Amino acid sequence: MSKNIESHLEENRVYTPSEEFSQSARISSMSQYRKLYKESIDKPDVFWAREAAELQWQQPWSQVFDWKAPFAKWFVGGKLNVAENCVDRHATSSRRNKAAIIFEGEPGDRRVITYAELQREVCKFANILEKNGVKSKDRVLIYMPMIPEAAIAMLACARIGAVHNVVFGGFSADSIVDRLEDSGATYVVTADGGWRRGKIVPLKENVDVALQRYGKVRKVIVHQRCGNEISMTPSRDVWWHDEAQNVKSTHRAKAFDSEHPLFLLYTSGSTGKPKGILHTSGGYLTGTYSTFKYIFDIRDTDVYWCTADVGWITGHSYIVYGPLANGATQVMYEGAPNQPDFGRFWKIIEDHGVSIFYTAPTAIRAFIKAGDHFPAAHDLSSLRLLGSVGEPINPEAWMWYHRQIGGERCPIVDTWWQTETGAIMISPLPGCTPCKPGTATLPFFGVDAAILDEAGNVCKANEGGKLVIRKPWPSMTRTIYGDKARFRKTYWSDYSGIYTAGDGARRDKEGNFWIVGRIDDVLNVSGHRLGTAEVESALVAHPAVAESAVVGRPDELKGQGVVCFVTLKEGKESSEALRRELREHVGRTIGAIAKPDDIYFAPALPKTRSGKIMRRLLKELVTTGEISGNITTLDDAQVIINLQKCIKP
Ligand code: PRX
Repeated sequence: MSKNIESHLEENRVYTPSEEFSQSARISSMSQYRKLYKESIDKPDVFWAREAAELQWQQPWSQVFDWKAPFAKWFVGGKLNVAENCVDRHATSSRRNKAAIIFEGEPGDRRVITYAELQREVCKFANILEKNGVKSKDRVLIYMPMIPEAAIAMLACARIGAVHNVVFGGFSADSIVDRLEDSGATYVVTADGGWRRGKIVPLKENVDVALQRYGKVRKVIVHQRCGNEISMTPSRDVWWHDEAQNVKSTHRAKAFDSEHPLFLLYTSGSTGKPKGILHTSGGYLTGTYSTFKYIFDIRDTDVYWCTADVGWITGHSYIVYGPLANGATQVMYEGAPNQPDFGRFWKIIEDHGVSIFYTAPTAIRAFIKAGDHFPAAHDLSSLRLLGSVGEPINPEAWMWYHRQIGGERCPIVDTWWQTETGAIMISPLPGCTPCKPGTATLPFFGVDAAILDEAGNVCKANEGGKLVIRKPWPSMTRTIYGDKARFRKTYWSDYSGIYTAGDGARRDKEGNFWIVGRIDDVLNVSGHRLGTAEVESALVAHPAVAESAVVGRPDELKGQGVVCFVTLKEGKESSEALRRELREHVGRTIGAIAKPDDIYFAPALPKTRSGKIMRRLLKELVTTGEISGNITTLDDAQVIINLQKCIKP
């Protein structure tokens, strides 16, 4: 048995929601949370049946769940239409003329789409899909900019029972081919282009390149966004706006089985070919609906904004399905956070009166680096709740978010979850949970999260181990598309019948979960196993540091040496003195064991396109001096060239 992950970082700051916030929240006290949590764990069928009953079912289920590990079915026998739940339900209620999507394009163009209009658009596109031959269970690859038509295309697929596979618009033709081949898709929905940092991303052109290598696509439906010149292959390619002329704006929403496949979403993982994560209908919708309702404590008066791209699971669950199932009003923004400058997000919040803002630590650290004057120039007083997702949020980044964006009044929900979990699993409830910067706090209802050692025992308080989920939950992935063996091996082979998330974590004495990093990234220094997040957070706590990444390098004496890459805030200079100071600073904060062997000052860190730091590449770089591995998921290849220069000046 290998030793457990150690934890040395202690955080004693605690923030509780204001009385005003608590009083009007759905869950307003910890005793209320504990009572409901207990029910959800002891009687999951009672808890989840109540949540699911808030949705519209065309046929009731006969059994809440059926669990033959690792395969789950939820709301067995039930039938529903996911799009009807997200759109028609509101379009035929008092929310009819409420804004569903407030869109802002990168060039500054704006559009407001009400629920009634969304219903018409989704129905029209469902008719377009059917007219072009799309049938239930056909796979439809969606490769779109962040515009309302991306959500409309997803909902139209759901409406007719087709399985969407959204591919992030920043991915290349190669990634499209991989996904087409693995999913066996026969239809593509795309746009001529999308705006990103003032330039047009040539989406249709990328699709054309991909389709030279994959011949099974029957139709490509193209939305006109940028007006850039593209080539249309006769008989294969059709314009969305042409097709829209000839279809009705009504469409009957047929009922589909609760376990009908809803979408595939590919997650890269650090090695190997991307995994097609499969989500189904009734359970996924119940999970995203319920988490969105409680964790964002949504009201009809709220203006919600999630800055993720629809190409990621966050975009699926918390731009499309969760918010729309709740009848929320949301902002959707097409472009980059720094277009024309780092004030863009704060201007959008001010202009549209955003009250709930959900973003990622990578964006927060980019804002910290850029400087406080950007948010300070805008009125952010409409905000009442903030969220974070995607990586551990370093405590000092949390504090900045709390002060500079939340005006010290907004609770922060640090939400831990994964593409595979479908919905948020660990998070504060904003009206009751005491928050400590850096922890995602406590499990959501029905989530039996624990931390286990290698032998499968529950770790003691503050002892690090593997984060697992011991009971099934409605929005869990059903399998890896076409590869049950890989599904079992990846998530279900560490402990029998238990889901392993691949994250290292610890629980503190109050039961809060602290993610210490991916298990594969854990450092092993002189027999001590250290999570990367703690050393990185210690560095980010230094006033000169905006961002950091920490990796292990083989070391004859210690097993691994600690190598740190550090990005400084605007206006801070690298120097030998600062390097020494940072080394001492980590020693003081965590202990001598974590003192960096090397610190490199880097202009930028290598990240995935969703903004996660790619420690795998840094590890390879410090071990071999170069990078030979797969870099297709890397956001900006120039970063690697700069890093190579900085390790061999
Ligand atoms: O390592 C965890 C990290 O992101 C992983 C899941 O990535 P993905 O499937 O791309 O989904 C991202 C959006 C849900 C997790 O295994 N992660 C995500 N949220 C957090 C986090 N780590 C710490 N704290 C979080 N709040």
